[in-house]
Amino acid sequence: MIEFRDVHKYYGDYHALRGINATIRAGEFFSLLGPSGCGKTTLLRTIAGFEDISSGAVMIDGKSMSGVPANVRPTNMVFQSYAIFPHLTVAQNVGFGLRRDPMSAAEKAKAVDEALEMVGLKGYGARAAHALSGGQRQRVALARALILKPKVLLLDEPLSALDKKMREQMQVELIKLQRQVGITFILVTHDQEEALVMSDRIAVMFEGQIAQLADPETLYRRPASKKVADFIGTMNFLPAKVLSDAGATVEVEAQGFGRMSLAPDQVMTGHSADGATIGLRPETLTILFDGQTASEREVMGSVEEVVYYGDMTYYDVKLDGAEVPMRLSMRNVPGRPVLDRGNKARLGWSPSAAVLFR
Ligand SMILES: Nc1ncnc2c1ncn2[C@@H]1O[C@H](COP(=O)(O)OP(=O)(O)O)[C@@H](O)[C@H]1O
Ligand SMILES: [Mg+2]
Repeated sequence: MIEFRDVHKYYGDYHALRGINATIRAGEFFSLLGPSGCGKTTLLRTIAGFEDISSGAVMIDGKSMSGVPANVRPTNMVFQSYAIFPHLTVAQNVGFGLRRDPMSAAEKAKAVDEALEMVGLKGYGARAAHALSGGQRQRVALARALILKPKVLLLDEPLSALDKKMREQMQVELIKLQRQVGITFILVTHDQEEALVMSDRIAVMFEGQIAQLADPETLYRRPASKKVADFIGTMNFLPAKVLSDAGATVEVEAQGFGRMSLAPDQVMTGHSADGATIGLRPETLTILFDGQTASEREVMGSVEEVVYYGDMTYYDVKLDGAEVPMRLSMRNVPGRPVLDRGNKARLGWSPSAAVLFR
């Protein structure tokens, strides 16, 4: 549906997009995720036609968008600031893009009603836009974009101004809306949790480049670099030594964990400058209580820090023979004790959960 071919963008001397190559499929919920200033908005604007590119090509439906103005592209954009007209009614806002459309007034009113129903604002048409809450304004902005029936909806941090509860509610509604209308949604966000929750696929961007493009589970379980691993959730990193990689598996020795064999999909190359590193997510380490046995391997350690979150407890545990403590997370369940600092802990872990950066 949308293809970036070696897209570069300069603002004067500043190299904002540094060779973007990616394909976005028709009908998918796609996110551009990365820290502030990495080029997400710039890339989104190149799709909409609000930003010229310096070299490369942006293709929509197989056609180069070079020289194609924004208003004839099959895209529509929803902005971070809702940009609705406070002095107009909700219906006037939603119908704004149809004002020069030849359809009859009755047809327009019907289209407005349908768009309002889609975003959960049925019956709000006559309200003054300035009398709406933040969440409702963002729904109006969505309805105003959807009424034009774009093939691609571009969303630039549309939920970032909302409080946490409203944001989480709108995330679920946006997913449902996307399934209902079936068009391609491209979301810009700096919030990794938001991207994981909502997206079919995510492009993680740093400094004008895509570091990894994958589905949420792959990004989380098999991050291509330490930087991606660190940006998406938490990962423990341990110095490691590669013992052999002659066969089908790579043999590694990591501080505190001992030897392990890793399959090719667990090995991320291109990081040799820092030496080899093993990565393990906090929830892949488990504290074993009483008679529990590990599914694969066991190590001993001592608890250095305990952070209690109600549903979860986070522990920092120093493994015997390791220098840095491991962060691990345990779901709290009735009848299972929360350990204290200084307690000895028996940990279960699995080599299959590890990632090697080398
Ligand atoms: N119109 C502009 N002129 C000069 N520099 C810009 C302009 N727009 C964005 N930039 C710079 O390009 C980089 C990427 O910006 P942007 O795409 O807005 O990042 P993001 O949306 O990921 O926060 C930033 O360093 C920003 O300062
Ligand atoms: Mg931005």
